[in-house]
Amino acid sequence: MHWFRDFGRELPWRGTGDAYAIWLSEVILQQTRIQQGEAYWLRFMQRFPTVEDLADASEDEVLRLWQGLGYYSRARNLHAAAHQIVAAGGFPQTIEGIRALKGVGDYTAAAIGSIAFGLDAAAVDGNVYRVLARHFGIATPINTTEGKREFTILATQLLPMGQAGTFNQALMDFGAMQCTPQTPRCMSCPLAETCVALRTGTVEKLPVKMRKTKVQERHLAYIYIRCKDETPIRRRPAGDIWQGLWEPAELSMVSVDSQRQGQLLAHDVKHVLTHRILYADFYFMEVTEKPSLPEGYIWVKESALDDYAKPRLIEKLLELILASGLRVPFPVLG
Ligand code: ADE
Repeated sequence: MHWFRDFGRELPWRGTGDAYAIWLSEVILQQTRIQQGEAYWLRFMQRFPTVEDLADASEDEVLRLWQGLGYYSRARNLHAAAHQIVAAGGFPQTIEGIRALKGVGDYTAAAIGSIAFGLDAAAVDGNVYRVLARHFGIATPINTTEGKREFTILATQLLPMGQAGTFNQALMDFGAMQCTPQTPRCMSCPLAETCVALRTGTVEKLPVKMRKTKVQERHLAYIYIRCKDETPIRRRPAGDIWQGLWEPAELSMVSVDSQRQGQLLAHDVKHVLTHRILYADFYFMEVTEKPSLPEGYIWVKESALDDYAKPRLIEKLLELILASGLRVPFPVLG
């Protein structure tokens, strides 16, 4: 905590005491790094200064503001939780109450509770696991039930009562800035004298993660069709990945005849998700007449594509196509 006082990051939500602002920061930071997260947080706070403003918005608008962060279920949960909070007449002020909000797990509940309300709860995020595993030389895998239990108990024992918010954030910043995953700054570390990992030469080996079972692989093929300044997209149906998000035409949906009209260009991209690897072939085709497409597709102006929430993979593709000035051939993705 001494280190934190001198070197902790200045973040716009720190010191606000606004539970809504802090909750928003935590949800965004689960999805991205501090710097990008700060920009998203500022945009959200500008557009939705209060939880009522967020609850009043349409889901589409929330998803649009979320664009670029991926994993839209977090944005949907954020919006749903805003309704929960407004319906309850205010932000819950107990760990259990906060934990009952949609999308809020143990870590987030403890982070919000301690930072916004001074509750004595340990918030154990990836940074905290790393700092504790190294300092105390603990090799229990952090992504197991046993590991979660062990590290949470330890963090709770270390918690200075009444200062949990500062302590939790100090550990997070310490992990992010000093005790970093790669090349930690052990030479200037204020905890070097008592660090078990440093003494035993295991800094690089800790924390231990258990190898997950085989990830699922999925293959997708899209065709970006341009007719004048329009392109067809559809909302992905329920019961699969990317439910409700918009995507270009699937290759299988376009008849061979219409494919002959235009020039086909292809490239493959690989997209790694938490428990899935997606391989996608992207084709580009320019046509003079709109091919007929199955039900569900709508033709939209390319300049209006921003208004439709898309999977991160699709966003990346479109960014590349748009960066190429919508000329054929677009640059090789990779
Ligand atoms: N990462 C997520 N939440 C954080 C916080 N409150 N402080 C520092 N890093 C964080």
